[in-house]
Amino acid sequence: MQDGFGRKIDYLRISVTDRCNFRCQYCMSEKMTFMPKSELLTLEEITLIAERFIGHGIRKIRLTGGEPLVRRDMGDVIQRLGRKVQSGELEELTMTTNGSLLEEYADHIANHNVRRINVSMDTLNPERFREITRGADIAQVLRGIDAAKNAGIRVKINMVGLRDFNETDLLPMAEYCAREGHDLTVIETMPLGDVGADRKLEHIPAEEFIAPLTREYDLEPVGYRSAGPARYHMVRPLGLRLGTITPLSQNFCDGCNRLRLTTDGKIFMCLGHNAHVDLRSAVRNEGIEAVDRLLQKALKLKPLRHEFNAQLDGSADILERHMNVTGG
Ligand code: GTP
Ligand code: 5AD
Ligand code: SF4
Repeated sequence: MQDGFGRKIDYLRISVTDRCNFRCQYCMSEKMTFMPKSELLTLEEITLIAERFIGHGIRKIRLTGGEPLVRRDMGDVIQRLGRKVQSGELEELTMTTNGSLLEEYADHIANHNVRRINVSMDTLNPERFREITRGADIAQVLRGIDAAKNAGIRVKINMVGLRDFNETDLLPMAEYCAREGHDLTVIETMPLGDVGADRKLEHIPAEEFIAPLTREYDLEPVGYRSAGPARYHMVRPLGLRLGTITPLSQNFCDGCNRLRLTTDGKIFMCLGHNAHVDLRSAVRNEGIEAVDRLLQKALKLKPLRHEFNAQLDGSADILERHMNVTGG
C-alpha cells in the first residue's frame, strides 16, 4: 500500500479501548467520559479488519489504547493476532501499555508472539509518578516490567518530557534502563485534546530534555530503526539505547508508514489531523469487503504531515480528540 505521497504503508496501530486505569495529565483530562461499550469494535471486528489490512500489506501491528490490558477480552485479541505472527502473515505484533497489568499478562503476551512492548513511565519518583498519573502506584508498574522481562519480552520505556516537572528524572531513568537492559525513548508532548494544562508551557524539546545526558556522555547515532518515528543513539558508557521522538522540534513525517484504527472503528491517517473514514458503520452495514474501498479512500486522504507546531503556537485549533481514542 502507498499513500498519495508515495509513502509505503505497512504498519497499523489499533486502539482497542479508550479506557485506562491511569489518567496521565498530558493524555486525559481529569474528568473523561468514555465511549459506551457498544461503540467499541468487537473482538470479531478487530480480527476481521486486521486480517483484511494484512491482506493489503500491513506487516506490523501495535495494540494501544487507552490501556489495552483493561479490555476484558484482551487475552483473546492478543491470541488471535499472535497467530498471524506464527503463520508469518505479520512480521511483528507489539503493544504500548502503562505496565500496571503486566504481572498478570506477561506470560500470555509472550506465549502469543509479542516479542517487545513499550511501557509508559515518565519518572521513577513515586510521588511524581502518582502526580502525573493522578494516583497510580509505580511499584506495580515496576513489577509489571520485571514480569515482562522475565517472560523474555524486550521492553522500551516511553518517557514524555515535561518542562519543570521531570527533567531531573532523566538520569535516574537512564541508569535504571541501562541496568535492566531496557531501551529508553524520550517523547515531546503533543497538543491533543483539552487536558486543562498549558501545552506550550509544559513542552520541552527532546534535545533540551536529554541535555543532562549529553553533557555527561557522548551519544553515538545508531542505524537501528524500529517501525516508529524514534531516532536512536547509543550511550556507550552506560550501555543504553536512547531514542527521541520529536514531533515538534524535528519533523519525521516524511517517513511515515502508518495508519491508526480507533477504538470505535475509524481509520485516522495522522495523529494530528481530523481526516478519517468510518470503517465500523460500513463494515456493520455492508460487510467486511467495505474495508477494501475505504482503505483506498483513506490512503488518498493521508496528509503529508501533522500541524502540531501551529496548534501549539495557537495559529491552528487544537484537535478535540484525546490521545487515548486514536491510540498514542
Ligand atoms: P516502535 O518504534 O515500534 O517501538 O513504537 P513507537 O515508539 O512508534 O510507539 P509508541 O506507541 O511507544 O509511541 C511512542 C510515542 O510516539 C507516542 O507518544 C506516540 O504518540 C508517538 N508516535 C507514534 N507514532 C507517531 C506518528 O506517526 N506521529 C506522531 N506525531 N507521533 C507518533
Ligand atoms: N503527547 C505525547 N505523548 C503522549 N502520550 C500520551 N499522550 C501524549 C501526548 N499528548 C504517550 C504515552 C504513551 C504513548 C502511547 O503516548 O505516554 O507512552
Ligand atoms: Fe493511560 Fe497511557 Fe493515557 Fe497514561 S498516557 S492515561 S497510561 S492511556
